[in-house]
Amino acid sequence: MRPFISLTAAMASSIAVCRLHMRGRGSLATCLQRVDTFLLRSIGTNVAAAQTEAPRKDEADEKDGRKSLYAVQAERQEQAERSVLISCPSRTSEKKILKYLSRHGDIKKYFSYESYGTYAVVEFAKWESVASILEGAAIPSASHESMVPFKSRLLSLRNLGPADSNQQSSQQSQPQTTIPINELIERLSREESIAQQITSLTEAYQLTEENSRLRFLVCSLLQDIATAYFPECTIRPFGSSVNGFGKLGCDLDMILDLDSISGRNIKMPKAGLSLEYQMKRANSERAVTQSILSVIGTCVDQFGPGCVGVQKILNARCPLVRFAHQPSGFQCDLTANNRVAIKSTELLYLYGELDPRVRSLVFTVRCWARAHGITSSIPGAWITNFSLTVMVLFFLQRRSPPIIPTLDHLRDLAGPADKSVIEGNDCTFVSDFSKIQLQSNTETLEQLLCEFFEFYATFAFTKMSINIRKGKEQNKPEVTPLHIQNPFETSLNVSKNVNATQLDRFVALCQESSWLLQQSETVSPAGRPTPWGLATLLLPSQIAGIKSRKKRKREAASERIKGLLESLKNKNQQKS
Ligand code: GTP
Ligand code: MG
Repeated sequence: MRPFISLTAAMASSIAVCRLHMRGRGSLATCLQRVDTFLLRSIGTNVAAAQTEAPRKDEADEKDGRKSLYAVQAERQEQAERSVLISCPSRTSEKKILKYLSRHGDIKKYFSYESYGTYAVVEFAKWESVASILEGAAIPSASHESMVPFKSRLLSLRNLGPADSNQQSSQQSQPQTTIPINELIERLSREESIAQQITSLTEAYQLTEENSRLRFLVCSLLQDIATAYFPECTIRPFGSSVNGFGKLGCDLDMILDLDSISGRNIKMPKAGLSLEYQMKRANSERAVTQSILSVIGTCVDQFGPGCVGVQKILNARCPLVRFAHQPSGFQCDLTANNRVAIKSTELLYLYGELDPRVRSLVFTVRCWARAHGITSSIPGAWITNFSLTVMVLFFLQRRSPPIIPTLDHLRDLAGPADKSVIEGNDCTFVSDFSKIQLQSNTETLEQLLCEFFEFYATFAFTKMSINIRKGKEQNKPEVTPLHIQNPFETSLNVSKNVNATQLDRFVALCQESSWLLQQSETVSPAGRPTPWGLATLLLPSQIAGIKSRKKRKREAASERIKGLLESLKNKNQQKS
């Protein structure tokens, strides 16, 4: 469906006044006041929208005790809209800051973290407190002649009094990045079993509650910019920020969602008078997406506080705007009209919620792949985290009995509300967890990890394609080293970029890791502080130092032949 884009008179006038000011005309006060009005109104509108839309699916979720991604997102978005992001002086106590901020209303959640200085996320109980805090905030001093008069919920707290000398009462900083790999290896080496190592790795790497809130807040801050043009749009995270497989420090994939506008479109009456908007027409949906992203990209670049290094990558298969959001430290990718990616995110989230072993195994495999350079943050011929996740899911579908169902089965369980067809692709699958019956597979995480490596060490990549829709390997439809069918756009291969060298490295590493795990102790070797079990698998030097399985086999065979010849020689000597 074509996005329905509206520009209200109030928004238009705010932008127009701002533009006038940018050209040196108009009053700064008027401009900021108008921007204020729309900022506060848009916050209010979105809160109301979240409140009216959220309960519909929540009811179904609560039955099962698990929330759908839709419900989780609605809750997080609403929290984000009641929050502000504040740069704080490092030597000011948390208590003092909280006391100062609570003048504007009750604070529901507060935490601080380090990123180019100390920042605090403050969630108020009511969004009116946000309005009050913005109203009370000052404009930076007049010496900043060239500043852009864009007011946002990113603020700076100034302390003109003496700094607090008591270090203990200062901010308790929440980590926003993962612990270094050597620290992780040490931690894992102290665990008592491989299964515990896997759980420990998941706990160390997964997104924290605070990091997740920060991601939604950044989306909400960007939404404040985008609503200047499209007042009813939303900016939502997708990908690993919300699919349950995100690691601290992963990028923030966002979608500018204009569908909520078309979703609320008024039906034209069959007879009589009616009004409709006049709109510009473009050659294609893609052209519309490109021009919207281009405009928002310019706004982010020129008006977005803390947004740096903006790149418009509009000719990519999926056009996007890439930038760094300095106050949060997130690398951001903003896309639009990317509904299939939203469905992929929902699907991955659902699989991760079905059985706790899914998430743990995905985390472990992702971490292992990263430690050995199988995946990379730079685009190239490597296997992506998305492809790797699909490979883990496929492996779990191939267990006996399967740990997770096939996508076709999830489609068959879907109700009428789950129906989704995007650009001709069937993206329907069940959202109600209580309808999904799992089979009783009792394999341990340790067994699964070992079997995963064995499975892909011997997989017929040359002939077969990985297919989570069917849960069975299929004949490869094209000649690429690795073929993983896109779950929704089934004619596409999600790993088309992977070359033979990268696939060979993956297979060799699976072979080595499988062998290493089989040799490893299954419980912590008492009194030995050295890496063992999963920790060994994360040491690149360890694996590199081990000869390939083929080489080992060759050596073992030649040893046997040597031994045989020796014994023949000895026998002959005895005879003579
Ligand atoms: P990391 O960012 O590496 O942590 O993982 P990610 O899952 O977020 O991957 P990425 O940022 O590369 O992509 C974001 C999301 O876009 C993924 O989670 C998928 O939902 C979707 N996506 C990425 N690559 C593909 C692809 O090749 N095909 C399809 N259909 N979706 C993709
Ligand atoms: Mg991502």
